[in-house]
Amino acid sequence: MKSLTVASIFVAGLVAAAPTKRAAAPPTDGDILNYALTLEHLENNFYKQGIANFTEADFAAAGFNSTMYNNIMRIGKDETAHVDFLTTALEAAGVTPVKECTYAFGVTDVMTLVATASILEGVGVSAYLGAAADIMSKTYLTAAGSILTTEARHSSYLRASLEQVPFAQPFDNPLSYNEVYTLAAPFIVECPADNPPLPVKAFPMLTASSADMPIMTNSTIMLSTMGYELVAAGEGEIFAAFVTVTGPVYAHATKVDGGFEVMVPEGVKGQSYVVLTGCETAVTDDTVAAGPAIVEIAG
Ligand SMILES: *[C@@H]1O[C@H](CO)[C@@H](O)[C@H](O)[C@H]1NC(C)=O
Ligand SMILES: *[C@@H]1O[C@H](CO)[C@@H](O)[C@H](O)[C@H]1NC(C)=O
Ligand SMILES: *[C@@H]1O[C@H](CO)[C@@H](O)[C@H](O)[C@H]1NC(C)=O
Repeated sequence: MKSLTVASIFVAGLVAAAPTKRAAAPPTDGDILNYALTLEHLENNFYKQGIANFTEADFAAAGFNSTMYNNIMRIGKDETAHVDFLTTALEAAGVTPVKECTYAFGVTDVMTLVATASILEGVGVSAYLGAAADIMSKTYLTAAGSILTTEARHSSYLRASLEQVPFAQPFDNPLSYNEVYTLAAPFIVECPADNPPLPVKAFPMLTASSADMPIMTNSTIMLSTMGYELVAAGEGEIFAAFVTVTGPVYAHATKVDGGFEVMVPEGVKGQSYVVLTGCETAVTDDTVAAGPAIVEIAG
């Protein structure tokens, strides 16, 4: 009996390991550059709107001086340069570059503008970091790296301006294409019909809230998603997986009215990303039920 059990586990393992469908082709460098350009267009348009919406006096009234105002304009120019650079690189490679979409940012004051800018820069860093390993051309890898480091400078400057730790942990968090697209999608209203399609999809949106401000290790957060009843009704247990470069940090997700309660685990700080998943061994496109949600963890 015993050997039969071991054998069936072994067979089950083999079946699980065997691809049930042909694995999707990895994205080409053209896809990755267009994915990066999709994000750069969003950022570029965000700063254009922000600069059009608010004057230096508005910044001063919100407690941000002229240095901050000028640096926000400078960040906007960097994003324009990234758009131009990626567009030119794609054209040179014979790939149609994606064009700008229309966006809804819901920004009505300077404080929200700066807070949203900071989040966008952090997501940008995580997007380039997550894509790096797929880039085949070393030339593109260096170019993408040079954009990543610039976005990281923007992020730390903005975080410092918001009195957050500029570099909250020794390693930044890489995000997958679909995780990034899930975070970008709510801002995107409509894209030109002739934009080349990208091999990305959005997971169901997940939002985080907490009675604790600031949120720290061991704080209880609430993760809400439209389909939470359905997620909870599934077979196994639900976990919250916090993305880190060394792999996910899992926490138990307890179903409550409106979503799941989760205690923030040790080992995640700063702008953090959490997904709901039905498995405690790996976060893949097949196991993510919703998210990521962005959680700022102090400490
Ligand atoms: C600019 O203002 C419009 C109108 O209030 C608002 O919808 C949009 O979100 C704002 N964008 C930014 C980035 O400030
Ligand atoms: C604005 O504030 C920053 C941070 O306190 C400071 O370094 C900078 O010199 C200030 N700029 C001006 C023009 O006062
Ligand atoms: C979080 O809670 C655990 C278990 O109660 C405790 O051991 C740990 O010290 C706490 N960590 C922090 C940073 O409060």
